[in-house]
Amino acid sequence: RIVYVNGHYLPEAEATVSVFDRGFLMADGVYEVTSVLDGKLLDFPGHALRLERSLAELDMASPVTPDELLAIFRELVAQNGVTDGMIYLQITRGNPGDRDFAFPDPASTPSTIVAFTQSKPGLADSPVAKSGIKVISIDDIRWGRRDIKTVQLLYPSMGKMMAKKAGADDAWMVQDGFVTEGTSNNAYIVKGGRIITRHLGHEILHGITRAAVLRFAAEAQMVVEERAFTLAEASQADEAFITSASAFVMPVVAIDGATVGSGTPGPVATRLREIYLEESR
Ligand code: PDD
Repeated sequence: RIVYVNGHYLPEAEATVSVFDRGFLMADGVYEVTSVLDGKLLDFPGHALRLERSLAELDMASPVTPDELLAIFRELVAQNGVTDGMIYLQITRGNPGDRDFAFPDPASTPSTIVAFTQSKPGLADSPVAKSGIKVISIDDIRWGRRDIKTVQLLYPSMGKMMAKKAGADDAWMVQDGFVTEGTSNNAYIVKGGRIITRHLGHEILHGITRAAVLRFAAEAQMVVEERAFTLAEASQADEAFITSASAFVMPVVAIDGATVGSGTPGPVATRLREIYLEESR
């Protein structure tokens, strides 16, 4: 595989980052995951915009313009012959040459930028979308700025492992009685034809797929309520689903071992998945 590191396209074995990189020592960095379907990037402008926002919130200057980023992504897709899959991009506060809590001067410490592809043939035709996924609920103990897409993913990783241990696929995180989001996706329920998903704020990541799906839902005359919902409400829902760049729209058929609705993917989630894939391809 050919990966991108600080301006160079290199075989992955030759691509290296310093042990003093703040991404490695402090999780001081941000990332984006963009899907590739039929060789085309999905929702690129949204991901580029959110990246700029994440960087700005952390007082980091962007080392690339959106146009340069697009060129890098296209080059990686071409060089690696990716048809279906994803592109991972990470930008960290670079290598100050020592460990120090204070941020280094950006003039002497350029950021580190890394990008690579992961091929996932048949990504859009995942059989999991036909059966749906099961989630468990866990406490949301992450930091308070989940709207910034940082690389501090330890708790979401632990949540994923707790889910696997419980025989489920993922975890929905709960704060003050309300569902925030999944470990790496936004969470939704459907009740009486209304789509309910948490409002934007510091508590969740502002999903790019979420924005697209809510736009398509409105265009299809579906009713959307952007508000927090409880686990009790979710357990009484007709349907549940998640969205993310890698899962698109994915039905949720069980929460904490209890089936949601009929226990099979519901019509709203199924329709939204179809619309999202049609519109973004
Ligand atoms: N995760 N919430 C969290 C906590 C996420 O990590 C993600 C994305 C989302 C959905 O955002 P989007 O629709 O822009 O992908 C919501 C990516 C896919 C990941 O970490 O792999």
